[in-house]
Amino acid sequence: MESLFSAMMIVLLLVSFSCLTSSEARSSNNGNITVKWDLMNWTPDGYVAVVTAYNYQKQRSVPGWTMSWRWTKKEVIWSMVGAQTTEQGDCSKFKFNIPHSCMRKPIVVDLLPGTPYNQQIANCCKNGILKPGLESSFQLAVGNAGTSSKTARMPVNFTFTAPKQQYICGPTKNVRPTRFITADKRRMTRAMMTWNITCVFHKAT
Ligand SMILES: *[C@@H]1O[C@H](CO)[C@@H](O)[C@H](O)[C@H]1NC(C)=O
Ligand SMILES: *[C@@H]1O[C@H](CO)[C@@H](O)[C@H](O)[C@H]1NC(C)=O
Ligand SMILES: *[C@@H]1O[C@H](CO)[C@@H](O)[C@H](O)[C@H]1NC(C)=O
Repeated sequence: MESLFSAMMIVLLLVSFSCLTSSEARSSNNGNITVKWDLMNWTPDGYVAVVTAYNYQKQRSVPGWTMSWRWTKKEVIWSMVGAQTTEQGDCSKFKFNIPHSCMRKPIVVDLLPGTPYNQQIANCCKNGILKPGLESSFQLAVGNAGTSSKTARMPVNFTFTAPKQQYICGPTKNVRPTRFITADKRRMTRAMMTWNITCVFHKAT
């Protein structure tokens, strides 16, 4: 009797284990879009960040991305390189320097490949097209933000969309800061902070 019971327990364990591994395999097979924010330096009223979207989907090309998020304080985007927001919003309380966007939920789109070089950064300006295995970046200067790793607040409610594609994004996570290696490979530098968001394909629309 006892040996029958333990044999059943072993079978149950094996079954639940194989279910677990197959569902893990399925989610990693489908891949994801990871959006990474690297805070490169602090400024008098905020920070400069490089945002990079990685298409880790093996099969699915993104035909033209749009990203959005919600600020949790009174952040504004002073300037942007390699992408732009679709709306400036109400910047009427700024008199001298006018921000690129004062929206609480900015919507960001990519620039075209022919963008003037002084408005480009590496890996930018692909009209939002993101082939499998590739990445796309833009840079933004954020003001009215925290100016240290204790006070900077991550954007929340991140969305990533493309024509006929719907994605679901997870929470913004504060992760181990990215390390960068200089072109001559003789020096490592580090982002001040790094935030990751992972989005998975939900359905075709
Ligand atoms: C997203 O995909 C990459 C590459 O396959 C993988 O390393 C990473 O763990 C995935 N992220 C999540 C949160 O599943
Ligand atoms: C934003 O996200 C928070 C928690 O992640 C959630 O409670 C809230 O409802 C979301 N707001 C909107 C407008 O989606
Ligand atoms: C954050 O995203 C980057 C780019 O995909 C990845 O290299 C890094 O490992 C991620 N960090 C964590 C903790 O998932």
